[in-house]
Amino acid sequence: MSKTVLVSGGAGFIGSHVTVELSQAGYDVVIADNMSNCDETNYKGVCAILGKTLPLIKMDFCDEAAVKALFAKYRFDALIHFAAFKAVGESVAEPLMYYKNNLDSFLNILQAAREHGTNVLFSSSATVYGEPDETPVTEQSPRKPATSPYGNTKQMCEDFLRDCVAAYGMHGIALCYFNPIGAHPSALIGELPRGVPNNLVPFITQTAIGKRECLSIFGNDYPTPDGTCLRDYIDIVDLAKAHVCAVTRMVEGKMDEPYEIFNIGTGRPVSVLELVNSFQKVNALKLNYRFAPRREGDVTAVWADPSLAEKKLGWKATRTVEETLASAWAWEKRLAGK
Ligand code: UD1
Repeated sequence: MSKTVLVSGGAGFIGSHVTVELSQAGYDVVIADNMSNCDETNYKGVCAILGKTLPLIKMDFCDEAAVKALFAKYRFDALIHFAAFKAVGESVAEPLMYYKNNLDSFLNILQAAREHGTNVLFSSSATVYGEPDETPVTEQSPRKPATSPYGNTKQMCEDFLRDCVAAYGMHGIALCYFNPIGAHPSALIGELPRGVPNNLVPFITQTAIGKRECLSIFGNDYPTPDGTCLRDYIDIVDLAKAHVCAVTRMVEGKMDEPYEIFNIGTGRPVSVLELVNSFQKVNALKLNYRFAPRREGDVTAVWADPSLAEKKLGWKATRTVEETLASAWAWEKRLAGK
């Protein structure tokens, strides 16, 4: 009998790609999303890719009664929690909004998961490692004090999950993403930032399509080979497949410890300038960019050691950064109707 997975925030960028991979791996998926940061574009894309309509429950995970009702209606073998605010700068300006939303929602989910014996997968971020003393970053690398309320909520939610697992006999995995980019090869789902994008790749594609005039590369005086920051850009479909491996590990009872953390990245550092050059080359176009001052809060270099995920989850990144950048461009063109 197939297993059922709840994907909170399943209409968003990462959630929609994960829903596709889970469904294609044979899981039944229930999407729940309050649609506060997205429209139905990705949800419709998911249904088009899969050729079927998945349940979409419009609800807010901060609403405890709604969470209880959801768990009373379905029996979930596992849940993946994406539903959260994610803009670093906004979290600095509106910390209470971030703490209330990101923490309350996860507490309600943990309560329900405890009552129903549901396996929990939490979507965490490399932001928990801050400016690392050593690269690549392993799961044993020390977590640094968070540099934003957003980062703080990721650390706190990891701790909530760890403590609940220890106290209540639950099982949980935190996946720590580096920089997810790209879009599904069908170009039917992808990243849809509202307003001016904060992240690099949507800013690049929007500049290339003419929605933005010029990309600012924040800082070219970092102590790196070309002076721009180094990151670990992980393809969104590769990233989504890591969730299938992690969910399967939980529901099949194959975990070594009841709470596990895995870094999900490629293990390859790429500079901002290299990424821009690859984008231009693979898509045969010229991007309007300039060097600008450093952006506050940016770390110089961070990339993953993904060997634990390979060993234990049997997962590793497969797509090249060029393929991923081509997919991001195909998605932007499709959005523009080109
Ligand atoms: C940020 C968050 C991370 C979050 C991720 C995805 C922090 C410190 N970082 O990562 O937690 O998971 O977004 O939402 O919390 N850049 C430019 N020009 C731009 C935009 C970005 O040069 O217009 C540069 C940045 O300086 C950085 C790199 O591109 O060096 C990547 O930036 P971005 O895509 O915003 O991701 P991070 O800041 O690494």
